[in-house]
Amino acid sequence: MKEFEKVIGYNAIKQELIRISDVLKNNDAYKKLCVNAPRGLLLHGEPGVGKTLMASCIIAASGRKAFICRKDKPNGDFVNAIKKTFSDAKAAAPSIVFLDDMDKFANGDESHTDAEEYVTVQACIDEVRDSEVFVLATANSLRVLPGSLKRVGRFDRIIKICNPDGEDAIRIISHYISKKKFVGDIDPISIARIMEGRSCAELETVINEAGLYAGYERSDKITMEHFMRACLHTVFNVPNGVLNAKMPKINLSDSKNPMTKVIYHEAGHATIAEVLKPGTVTLVSAYKQAGDTGGFTAFCKNLKGNSSSELCLEEDDDYLNDLMAQDNDTIDEIHAEVLGSLGGMAALEQRFGIIDTGTRSDLNRAFDYVSDLVIENCTCGFQYHSDGYRRSDSQELMARQEQAVAAEMERYYRKTKEILALNHELLDAIALELSRKGVLTAADIAEIKKDCRVVLVGIQ
Ligand SMILES: Nc1ncnc2c1ncn2[C@@H]1O[C@H](COP(=O)(O)OP(=O)(O)OP(=O)(O)O)[C@@H](O)[C@H]1O
Ligand SMILES: [Mg+2]
Repeated sequence: MKEFEKVIGYNAIKQELIRISDVLKNNDAYKKLCVNAPRGLLLHGEPGVGKTLMASCIIAASGRKAFICRKDKPNGDFVNAIKKTFSDAKAAAPSIVFLDDMDKFANGDESHTDAEEYVTVQACIDEVRDSEVFVLATANSLRVLPGSLKRVGRFDRIIKICNPDGEDAIRIISHYISKKKFVGDIDPISIARIMEGRSCAELETVINEAGLYAGYERSDKITMEHFMRACLHTVFNVPNGVLNAKMPKINLSDSKNPMTKVIYHEAGHATIAEVLKPGTVTLVSAYKQAGDTGGFTAFCKNLKGNSSSELCLEEDDDYLNDLMAQDNDTIDEIHAEVLGSLGGMAALEQRFGIIDTGTRSDLNRAFDYVSDLVIENCTCGFQYHSDGYRRSDSQELMARQEQAVAAEMERYYRKTKEILALNHELLDAIALELSRKGVLTAADIAEIKKDCRVVLVGIQ
């Protein structure tokens, strides 16, 4: 159906929506077979993933008149507006009621699963049961909606829409690039990796933002450099003032220069990540984020859960999924996180023999992971175990735990330095390129690695 051409990627979901639209449009063909049309569809997912876009495609493809309801009135008036929407739709049947952002219908400041608005929606859905009124709704979170509203018979289909990933992200980026006057080495794959985990709306915005930078410079073409600026500013919160200042020429043997420290610190993180999990660094920046002092390194997030190319009909809970994803980190991933966190500090000691004073958050992160390993997962023996619930820990146990965690941190730190020593060529090459460019993409890192000896090291 051509109405769905605006939705790039998401093929499995599109197929399902096309099937539903066909039932709505050609209902007689289904009636002949004595089958009932689905009564409602609920699309849910994070902001900007295309729920409203997909819903509007269904409306267009169904050929039915749609009656749209969004929370735009105070509570009492809004309840009446919901009732009116349904009664207008019933009078115009076959039709569609579109409840956009249904999880915002009730006040957000209370546990509102039994709020009047949802009770009204539910009663209205039951009221139009025997009419050809299809109920289409979108929501960011299903948690606030009452279970009875989500049940089969009211919303027969509940489909989760995820942020675009893999091929879908590349297709969406290519689509938005094709609408602009881009030039040069624009590489949608690199962009997709930098933008991993971001919504369709963010992909669209960052590409447009690149155009705004180009326009401001009165350039008639948009380049990868404009895109990088847009990305650093809108996605990674680097202030424009910082981006506008040209990268100074840096003498990388001058350890007193704060920029040298920033560059080697980030090169340390990137080197450890590329040795332990090759191809995972998506961006290394010597530019600082607002409110921060150093640069930053971004990695593939190893997203768990559904991919945008799959159809997920289950009603799942994003909050619980996130918690479970944290619990399901493999031991190798945790080791890599700890070693990677220590990479910045170790690089400065390794290269210049100096203590890096800007590593508080890296250290806290590493300590958190190692404490979990030692105390909750008993990686150093059962004698350090406590779960914080069953018993109150004695002073003596806590002292032993602290010692064990500190000893483990020492071991991890030694391992980090060992990896950097074996891979000093890569460390220096990343630092040099970063000092020249200010920011490196996955493609830059891949280029650097071609000319360096990378010594792979086991994580344990
Ligand atoms: N698959 C897609 N292909 C191309 N563009 C998309 C896609 N999905 C979303 N967009 C674009 O992203 C922007 C946001 O989409 P939309 O408003 O539908 O998101 P949403 O999920 O309804 O967000 P919210 O939860 O905030 O209401 C729109 O400009 C839309 O055109
Ligand atoms: Mg929307």
